[in-house]
Amino acid sequence: MNTRAHALRLDAPHGAGIDMRAEVCAGLARRPKQLPSKYFYDAKGSALFEAICIQPEYYLTRAELALMRRHVAAIASALGPEVLLLEYGSGAGIKTQMLLAHLEHPVAYVPIEISSSALRQSVARLRDRLPAIEVLPVCADFTRPLILPTPQRRPDRRVIYFPGSTIGNFDSASAVGLLRRMRAEMGDDGAALVGADLIKDPAMIEAAYNDAAGVTARFTLNMLVRLNRELGADFDLSGFSARSRYNALASRIEAFIVSRRSQDVRVSGRAFHFDAAESMLVEISCKYSHASFAHLCARAGLRVAQVWEDPEHLFSLQLLVNDGSSPQ
Ligand code: TRP
Repeated sequence: MNTRAHALRLDAPHGAGIDMRAEVCAGLARRPKQLPSKYFYDAKGSALFEAICIQPEYYLTRAELALMRRHVAAIASALGPEVLLLEYGSGAGIKTQMLLAHLEHPVAYVPIEISSSALRQSVARLRDRLPAIEVLPVCADFTRPLILPTPQRRPDRRVIYFPGSTIGNFDSASAVGLLRRMRAEMGDDGAALVGADLIKDPAMIEAAYNDAAGVTARFTLNMLVRLNRELGADFDLSGFSARSRYNALASRIEAFIVSRRSQDVRVSGRAFHFDAAESMLVEISCKYSHASFAHLCARAGLRVAQVWEDPEHLFSLQLLVNDGSSPQ
């Protein structure tokens, strides 16, 4: 089959609404309430996330770009020639462009992204800037099983690129599950290149997730706007606020939506009660030491082969390979 035929595979929209309804209702029925963070990323949410990335307090993107500027040649040479690059959650794709431009004769690039608008934009930009590279986009939730397109040339090595600090958005059991999937998907000689935000001054971390301009708050509350629109929910936006706190014991940011008063909300015909000041967990963002990240990877049968950092040691990019143990 000519893989170019499916220019944009829209896997996720089929049945995605059913998943969303069930997952949201299950989360609202929990004590404490919780919402799945992947639903932040509709078109508006993806655009707001891009805006977060340029806020002065949000050091992560700047640090990762500085890291790439300094080390991209070394990273590309560690990956080697004839790479098939798969990206989980491709977003705006600036870092990816830098990486692809430095790879030696890359075979193809497969971005897997849940937001079709973000995917469309980044693919158009990439095809414009690097027209020689075969791009095979897949619009899907990368946490679910997916069938990947086949490139025209045979790769020497599959590399899974997972930049940003998205791995930190999973609790350790789910992160290990995802890393195990990467290990299976990349094959014995493959590699994964995973971004990991480093533990640092808690005040600096907390500021990054509570920017003064309020973009993070708008991003967080946009989840409720989306639930109103897509699930016919009736969240009154003036009745909720957003707040992120750094939990130093767990080394993670916890982002909450807080009910300003006692109120009832209907979602898909079901009523959910919120107490005044009740908070609902909507995101975690784990911060790692080199040891804690290596330990997480080891639980998934992966070994840290190399680590790169930005000049200020705020953020790391970790090259992971199969540690040779039998898969669990
Ligand atoms: N992956 C991003 C991170 O962990 C997501 C993110 C940034 C985020 N700011 C947020 C999620 C605020 C929820 C709330 O840094």
